Amino acid sequence: MIIAVDGPTASGKGTIAKALAAHFGLPHLDTGLLYRAVGRQVQLNGDDPDNASEALSACDFADSLLDDDILRSEEVGGFASRVSVHPAVRRALYERQRAFALQDGGAVLDGRDIGTVIAPEAPVKLFVTASVAERARRRWLEMQGRGIAALLADIERDIAARDARDMGRKDAPLMAAPDALVIDTTHFGRDAAIEAAIEAVQHKLSRAQ
Ligand code: C5P
Repeated sequence: MIIAVDGPTASGKGTIAKALAAHFGLPHLDTGLLYRAVGRQVQLNGDDPDNASEALSACDFADSLLDDDILRSEEVGGFASRVSVHPAVRRALYERQRAFALQDGGAVLDGRDIGTVIAPEAPVKLFVTASVAERARRRWLEMQGRGIAALLADIERDIAARDARDMGRKDAPLMAAPDALVIDTTHFGRDAAIEAAIEAVQHKLSRAQ
């Protein structure tokens, strides 16, 4: 069974995807990490993330980069959002994601275009979202926890810019697949959001039997 979990940054989709993977005993791929690795590699190369051929060259990053904590930084997230606009970059990362989705027994993938491009045949598709203000608040709290000082207003502005870029790009824009179940986590705590997602998957599965 393939479970596709899409949504904007800091919506809780990663937490939900991990919890679903643990609950249903499936492997999980955070596809944002692949784009973050490309963004980081562009940075390491001293290249321009807005240049398609320089961004494409960064797609042959070493797998060890995926374990680097720096990928989680806001700065690398911004680079990732910029490199992900290029169709050639998306094509270069397609096979890896597709192969993960098609492995025996199924998988959970989270990202922006899993239900629309990577695995449109997925029987279960969730689109996890929350208001910009709430997502900024969560990111701010997370950064505080890691001892990183940041202004809430700056985070809110960055998140809004990232959303606009992800939703506005021509190739594989961020959007809910027509058959996706939308989970708005604005007023949900972490556990309630996970519970809602597990119920949604179970409901889908019971209807499919
Ligand atoms: O999910 P995360 O914030 O780690 O993703 C970083 C960036 O990578 C996103 O802003 C988005 O531009 C890009 N991305 C994408 N398609 C995916 C996953 C991430 O375009 N499937």
